[in-house]
Order: sequence, then C-alpha cells, then structure tokens
Amino acid sequence: MPNLLVNHPTIRSYRRDRKNLFRASFVLFRQLTQKGQVFSLSHREDHSLRMLDNLGVFLSAAGSQRILIPAIALHDVGVFHTHEICHGPVSAELVRPHLPSLGLHQDEVEKVCSAIRAHDDKSFVDDSKEARALRVLDSIDAFGELGVYRFLEVYCRRGLTPPDMFVRALASLERRRQMVPTDLFRPADNWLINSAYSKAKEIMQLMLDGFHGKPVPGYAAEVYKALEIIDWDVYDNKKLEKIIHDAKSPSARDFFLKLWAELFTTQ
Ligand SMILES: [Fe+2]
Ligand SMILES: [Fe+2]
Repeated sequence: MPNLLVNHPTIRSYRRDRKNLFRASFVLFRQLTQKGQVFSLSHREDHSLRMLDNLGVFLSAAGSQRILIPAIALHDVGVFHTHEICHGPVSAELVRPHLPSLGLHQDEVEKVCSAIRAHDDKSFVDDSKEARALRVLDSIDAFGELGVYRFLEVYCRRGLTPPDMFVRALASLERRRQMVPTDLFRPADNWLINSAYSKAKEIMQLMLDGFHGKPVPGYAAEVYKALEIIDWDVYDNKKLEKIIHDAKSPSARDFFLKLWAELFTTQ
C-alpha cells in the first residue's frame, strides 16, 4: 500500500505553497481522526483527495484555495467523533484550534470553519464560493459506486436497516443531485457527473427491488460488479474481497445481509 499523500497526482500538481498547506491539512486530518472513537471507511483521505481532484473542473472560480484546501481536507473530521447525523459543527470545532498552525490568518480560520460547518448543518448558511464548492464537490463524491458504499455505511451507522435505508439513500441522492448546478461545469463534465449519479441510483434501486422480493435478473451480479470496481486496497480491507469472491450465486437478500454483517456491524 503506497503512501497516498506522497504519490497522489493531485499533490504532485500543486505549487510549493499550496503543497505545504495541502500536506499540513492532511497530517492534521490524520492526527484528529486517529483520536476519534468512530470508524469510517468512506470518509478517509481518499474522499477528500477525489474532491480536490475534481476541483479543477469548475468553470467558475471556486474561491480562495487557502480556504478551500483545508476545508476539503478537514470537513469530515467530525464523522470520526460523533454518531450524530449532523457532523459539520463537530468538525469545525475540532479543527478550529489547529488551523493557525497551518499558517492561516484569523479571518481565514473563520471562513474555513464556516464552510466546514455549513457542509452538514441545515440550520447554518454560508453562501461563499468556498462553502458552495465544498458542498458541490462533496455531493459529486456521493455518486457512482463509491457513493453507494458511502450511503450504506453512513445509514448503517445511524441504525437504519434495509430496505428503509435504500429508500432514504435514494431520497438523499436526489437532494444531492439538485445541489450540483449544471452551469458550474463543462458539458462533458456534466455528462460524467450525471452518469455517476445515474449509476448510484440504478444500484440503489436494484438493492431496493431485491429486498422487496422482486425477481431482479442478475441482481447479485450487478451489486457484485458495482462493488468490485472500488479500489478496496486503498483501505487495506480484505474482508470485502473475501465476501465478493465467496458470493457465487446468492439471493439478493442473502448477499446483502452478509455484506452488511461483515462490513458494517463488526467495526
Ligand atoms: Fe460530511
Ligand atoms: Fe464529505
């Protein structure tokens, strides 16, 4: 398993000043999440790295990178510290005392914390470019096969069970789609975003139909394909690999329940 922070192409592309802020933000993320009591595979560094990779496709300015880089790197620290649905304020308060050590001025500290809080606190509004960019990039990463995994993990942690969790995930997926305005991206990027959204919706719908007992041809194969595409080595997690390879031709319900038990209830 190579060191993500050294080898990731996003880091190689940043100029030195941005690179230092980038590295320091991710070191802080690691320090703060290691102290947390909650485990999450779906909100580790690779989630923020994908968001930073997608930052380049914004047509309009996404605001100050001195605000956005630490906001993206640190926005989900709270996920590792609380089971509450609303983790934005927890992230903001945990990172606030450490932000000056990244070289940020006090006004920048406040902007980073505001964007972080607003990404997951419906009662708190931040309409700055940086806060909007954080919300949009976060929503895009909820699409595609990885997005499906992320929904399942988050809803399992909140105590939801199938098939309700699929219904809620489909509704949340729709809200996130509405949150991504098409005028921010080039047509080709909009097409990719929409394809990823459609893929996540299709897999969720398959899971829901399978749990309602509808005979869905190729259900397990589709779920298998969807999960197999994820680079699980990032997590050094051999459990999923084993579940997938053990799953010859189970029913939809059996396959998912096994997956669920292994991945979500034994952490
Ligand atoms: Fe979040
Ligand atoms: Fe996030």
